[in-house]
Amino acid sequence: MAHMDVPPPDVAELLRLAADVRVNAYVPYSGFHVGAVVVTADGQVFEGVNVENASYRLTTCAEQTALVGRATTGNRSPVVAVAVVGDGDTPATPCGACRQTIYEFGPDATVHCAGAEALDARLDTDIRGLLPEAFGPDRLDVDVTGR
Ligand code: THU
Repeated sequence: MAHMDVPPPDVAELLRLAADVRVNAYVPYSGFHVGAVVVTADGQVFEGVNVENASYRLTTCAEQTALVGRATTGNRSPVVAVAVVGDGDTPATPCGACRQTIYEFGPDATVHCAGAEALDARLDTDIRGLLPEAFGPDRLDVDVTGR
């Protein structure tokens, strides 16, 4: 986990939180529930679920919901960890769009993935591994610290 201003949370606990919130997903089309938890360097935790739409492409992923929730509160502390849990026993990994969004707010974030029926069979990685050669703020010479 990237550097935090407070003691880091337990990853197993983050995955449990993501699994718990996952049941609130609005998924009448796919039936695939996803819960995500985002942790910031100041120790705050933001939860999200996937929210689908009859116009399929308007679906919002759980990770996006959590990251938008963080911004909405005014929190500008860097994202240091993301936990994602989907249905079943196979880890739910972030889609490409979510990887880009995670990178925007947490280029040093660790990413932890699991399936709700097998939280111990988790995948622990980081956003740089999931999104090699990422295009980010630095490529545009913008420092987004605190923005
Ligand atoms: N989904 C997420 O919420 N996060 C991801 O990173 C992968 C996919 C959701 C979108 C859709 O509601 C369902 O999973 C099936 O694709």
